[in-house]
Amino acid sequence: ASILMVASEALPFIKTGGLADVVGSLPQALSQKGHEVKVVIPLYRKIWEKYQSELYFDCEYSVSINYHEVPVRLYSKMEGDVCYFFIQHQGYFERDTLYGYDDDGERFAYFQKAVIEMLNQLNYWPNIIHCHDWQTGMIPCMVKETHDSDPRYNAIRFVYTIHNLLFQGNFGPEMLDSCLGLPYYLMENGNVKFDGGISFMKSGILYADKVTTVSPTYSQEILTPQYGEHLEAVLNMRKYDLWGIVNGIDTKSWNPKTDPLIEYNYDKINVRVQKVKNKLALQKELGLTQDEDVMLVGCVSRLTWQKGFYLLMEQLDALCAAPIQLVILGTGEAPIENKFRDLENGNKGKIVFYNGYNEEIAHRVYAASDLFLMPSLFEPCGISQLISLRYGTLPLVRETGGLKDTVDAYNEYEKSGNGFSFEKYDSNDLINVLYYACDVYYNRKDDWQMLQTNAMNTDVSWENSANTYSLLYNELMNQ
Ligand code: ADP
Ligand code: GLC
Repeated sequence: ASILMVASEALPFIKTGGLADVVGSLPQALSQKGHEVKVVIPLYRKIWEKYQSELYFDCEYSVSINYHEVPVRLYSKMEGDVCYFFIQHQGYFERDTLYGYDDDGERFAYFQKAVIEMLNQLNYWPNIIHCHDWQTGMIPCMVKETHDSDPRYNAIRFVYTIHNLLFQGNFGPEMLDSCLGLPYYLMENGNVKFDGGISFMKSGILYADKVTTVSPTYSQEILTPQYGEHLEAVLNMRKYDLWGIVNGIDTKSWNPKTDPLIEYNYDKINVRVQKVKNKLALQKELGLTQDEDVMLVGCVSRLTWQKGFYLLMEQLDALCAAPIQLVILGTGEAPIENKFRDLENGNKGKIVFYNGYNEEIAHRVYAASDLFLMPSLFEPCGISQLISLRYGTLPLVRETGGLKDTVDAYNEYEKSGNGFSFEKYDSNDLINVLYYACDVYYNRKDDWQMLQTNAMNTDVSWENSANTYSLLYNELMNQ
């Protein structure tokens, strides 16, 4: 099929979270399967600074926002077999961060309109437009409601993937007309109305031909009030068109055998020896006490309550008393950052908090750690635990969403598993399983080795899931 993916971030150009990993690697996997895939994202300042000399200028046109014609400049660049398009507008996108502005609704309304008009400008008519998250949720609605008399637009089928239901893109009702150019009756018939305003997420769910989310368990969880973020009723209306397809990772750039960002490369055979060397190197780099025997626990994450940090906060004494070293790499909410800063100060040499976003250090944390901590409150899929598995770093997770689907808890009787897990969102359970992992690490070394081998044998590639997406696209095209 010919597929256009629309998203707000994609590697290698720009990343704030797992969405960028997915939109960087899934298109490549699909193109290996014979699909023709293109991707379009906004041209952020960082991309412009780094790639401007490599970008090809395609064309210039305009779209209407707030009753004015606003210019669009379109650029592109090939990455492997995949063509990446970039929508340029300095005022909207060349800012310090990607999201979190008062005019986010207008910015991404503009982006979506620019994408829809891009097809016309390029005379490019994909079979499928695959939208990701709220920033792209209005596209199926806008095409179906305002271009329905054009057979070229009419032939397109839409897939909408939910990466995180928490972020919904809910805005005031005035946006409908002024920015999106949509008729007011959509408010009345309820298709986009949410909480007195409009919801990009809800609209995506209702107008797409198929809705997917990034793991089977999350696809079930979001049908319930506990995980549905007030959209469970809407999701239930679409449950026969809702697929849960687990993410993979780019196994080329995440490969401990060839990773240029780690000092000691390794595979399944020499993981133990080399991991110790990586551990000693990271301890030195970050100012931890150099100790090859200690269990090093790593965490690379956005620092937000989604990731279960409040569980950890409830158990700081037990955490500090555990026979471990802890390295946390992340940025996010101030209370969590402050807590980790205090924790580091009170435990020099044992706990280190690297407050920042740093790809290179991330690779070294994955490679050097023995255990990876991810006790999420909810987790649509999770990329970090997949990277950990690939690096022989056993994930310790809460059994929710994609964590449940990808981590198989250690079973000491059956001698099986690739990590550790607990079910209830309860800090005692988290600490108990952490101490249990310590016991296995220090006292049952053969079992630890078995778990490590199983982790590295786990298929975290896109192979299976790319096949499932192919099935989905085919089903749509045969409709
Ligand atoms: P989410 O998308 O919810 O943040 P995921 O587990 O899906 O969670 O993806 C997170 C991705 O971002 C992983 O690739 C992880 O390594 C990366 N990441 C998160 N925080 C940082 C950081 N501070 N520095 C470098 N990489 C990070
Ligand atoms: C979101 C989710 C995360 C998922 C990622 C990529 O950021 O929080 O669980 O892995 O999207 O799909």
